[in-house]
Amino acid sequence: MLSDKHGRTISYLRLAVTDRCNLRCYYCMPECGIDFVQRKELLSYEEMLRLAQIHADMGVNKVRITGGEPFVRKDLLPFINRLSAIPGIDEVHVTTNGTVSAGMVSQFKEAGISGINLSLDTLRKDRFFEITRRDQFDEVMRTFHQLLECGIPVKINMVLMNGVNDDELVDMALLARDYPVDVRFLEEMPFNGNGAGNKHLLSARMIEERLHQAFEGITKLHSPHHETATRFSVPEFKGNVGIIPSFTRTICGGCNRIRVTPTGQLKTCLYDNGVLDLKALLRGTADDSFIAQTIRSAVDKKPKDGFEAERQIQESSNRESMATIGG
Ligand code: GTP
Ligand code: 5AD
Ligand code: SF4
Repeated sequence: MLSDKHGRTISYLRLAVTDRCNLRCYYCMPECGIDFVQRKELLSYEEMLRLAQIHADMGVNKVRITGGEPFVRKDLLPFINRLSAIPGIDEVHVTTNGTVSAGMVSQFKEAGISGINLSLDTLRKDRFFEITRRDQFDEVMRTFHQLLECGIPVKINMVLMNGVNDDELVDMALLARDYPVDVRFLEEMPFNGNGAGNKHLLSARMIEERLHQAFEGITKLHSPHHETATRFSVPEFKGNVGIIPSFTRTICGGCNRIRVTPTGQLKTCLYDNGVLDLKALLRGTADDSFIAQTIRSAVDKKPKDGFEAERQIQESSNRESMATIGG
């Protein structure tokens, strides 16, 4: 088992396969993009498979593929196929913006994908362009419907922002009435690559109030300790709605996750700065058991919560983009 000094067991690895993205969501990246890393700086699929095996041997049973936008990396599905075949890895999920994958959805199940978290901040085409600076709303909706048709579990992630898209809270929640999907409202975080901060933050508490105002009979559901979302059922809804306090961080006590960035930095908390250079280890002479031991000792020191992690890092890293961090 992989655990930390606060008694948390780590069983969930978030693996970022690229820092590149074909959208430019303004809460994530500046319009000009970020300094994308060179190809050779990215972990190769072989390196990632080795890492996944090492983690699986320590009890990790769930992997989430993130980015950037994972599907802009070539040959993602064959990679996922091999990843999901690793003994001990029970579930492989993907977080995607859904712009380039509609044509591949029918192959997802066979590749071993257990579920998709789809980023969608608006149901209005013009607003989609304003938020993402790209005109690809129709492709995302096509992916959404394809996923439903193929029976793939879907969660929708909407970053709910004051004065930007919060007037769509009800419309987005209604997707969970009409379709068997979870719709989750995310707090904006300050990871936008330009240091501008999360100035449109709408807190989880405020979002919950609004949901209560909008939906009579809404009921909080019991969720596993490690779940990021507080989930609610609404009478007559096919799916649930949820709130993720990604910025106010009231979820850290149950945290079961670690991350590997596109360049192979291990992050034991979303808010830390990278605590171990796995790429250097993988490309050096270390054997698997040495790498496993080194990961164990890094994970042991996982900060108590995202606030402690933030206090431990340099100011400058607050300018990071979610794409560099890896979802
Ligand atoms: P499941 O694996 O389905 O539970 O989803 P998830 O919420 O863990 O993953 P997803 O990639 O969909 O993340 C959605 C959002 O949750 C992210 O954009 C963040 O806002 C937030 N989030 C995910 N992981 C963490 C975390 O470890 N810490 C914090 N503070 N927020 C997180
Ligand atoms: N704040 C909150 N969520 C963010 N995401 C990207 N950048 C931010 C941010 N600054 C979300 C995306 C997607 C997930 C991978 O991360 O919308 O759902
Ligand atoms: Fe875990 Fe850090 Fe996220 Fe809290 S902020 S849930 S400790 S990764």
